[in-house]
Amino acid sequence: MKILVTGGAGYIGSVVTEELIKDGHDVVVYDSLYKGHRDAIAPGAEFVQADLADSSTLTSTLKSRAIEAVIHMAADSLVGESCQNPAKYYRNNVLNGLNLLDAMRESSVKRFVFSSTAATYGEPEQQPITEEAANAPTNPYGETKLTFEHALHWYDEAFGMKFVSLCYFNAAGASERFGEDHDPESHLIPIALQAAAGKREAVEVYGNDYPTPDGTCVRDYIHVIDLARAHILALGIMDQGSRIYNLGCGGDGYSVNQVLETAREVTGKPIPARIGPRRPGDPSVLIAASDKIKKELGWKPELQDLRIIIETAWRWLQKHPNGYNR
Ligand SMILES: NC(=O)c1ccc[n+]([C@@H]2O[C@H](COP(=O)([O-])OP(=O)(O)OC[C@H]3O[C@@H](n4cnc5c(N)ncnc54)[C@H](O)[C@@H]3O)[C@@H](O)[C@H]2O)c1
Repeated sequence: MKILVTGGAGYIGSVVTEELIKDGHDVVVYDSLYKGHRDAIAPGAEFVQADLADSSTLTSTLKSRAIEAVIHMAADSLVGESCQNPAKYYRNNVLNGLNLLDAMRESSVKRFVFSSTAATYGEPEQQPITEEAANAPTNPYGETKLTFEHALHWYDEAFGMKFVSLCYFNAAGASERFGEDHDPESHLIPIALQAAAGKREAVEVYGNDYPTPDGTCVRDYIHVIDLARAHILALGIMDQGSRIYNLGCGGDGYSVNQVLETAREVTGKPIPARIGPRRPGDPSVLIAASDKIKKELGWKPELQDLRIIIETAWRWLQKHPNGYNR
């Protein structure tokens, strides 16, 4: 297939593109590089450097390359920033997303895979979170992803544009070539590994008095290659109708302490931790169920092991001690 990957120069998009190319697809990466990295674009992909706000470049790219499907990864995704600057999130995650859908409509592209987030569910009591859980986002990031998901539903009703939306929490780990390089970095595993590499003094742990086995928050991590495979599987079922799937680690999740302890074992470094107060609004446990995608799409995560996740991320960081460009 000829596939456009928006955000293909970002963390997850780089690995999605790499896996698509391995499978023999033709890929066009569409990215402004406002957050991504040129070196994160998988060799073999064509690169169009442009913003999603640029409707005419979007439409001409879709038409001239005869694109058959879009995997949409480009977005803003920092929860804290979204609370301080909601308009930025509505503009990029909703308005720019609509530009993309309209460009697809003009170009008769009818297949869409959306990298959503499990933040659309908010903080349900029932864990792991299934697709039946009520949507109740607690921040503009989750809200804008959910709003866009609603738009997808109505574009399907109006124009027969089929979509699969994938909802998950934390991507983690690395492929041999591509890894996580965000600025600022907000994810626990790269932060712990930066501390192991001597780039940070310590890791802040926000509370150790939660009702969890070791008192620290429990979260869900999925290897980025397993996530990429889910995006590619989703391309194959589009003709059977639009769907929403959750993706999770399949077990009880991993506590902050467990992540830090495994990172110490993998790296052989001490990784000092500073225990601070709880952060407002941090629930004790957040994990997503993946029974539906396993049953319906046969998704089989092959790297779902905290040690493997951390080992691959550590290998990548050692090869790129200053990230991609710096
Ligand atoms: N990283 C995670 O743990 C995680 C978890 C759940 C969902 N997601 C979703 O997955 C997607 C990718 O996440 P990531 O961590 O790889 O993000 P990332 O920031 O590494 O990559 C996003 C890419 O999109 C590009 N981009 C953003 N806005 C753009 C625009 N208007 N026009 C053109 N390019 C633009 C950026 O330059 C960047 O290369 C996001 O949609 C995010 O919401 C990520």
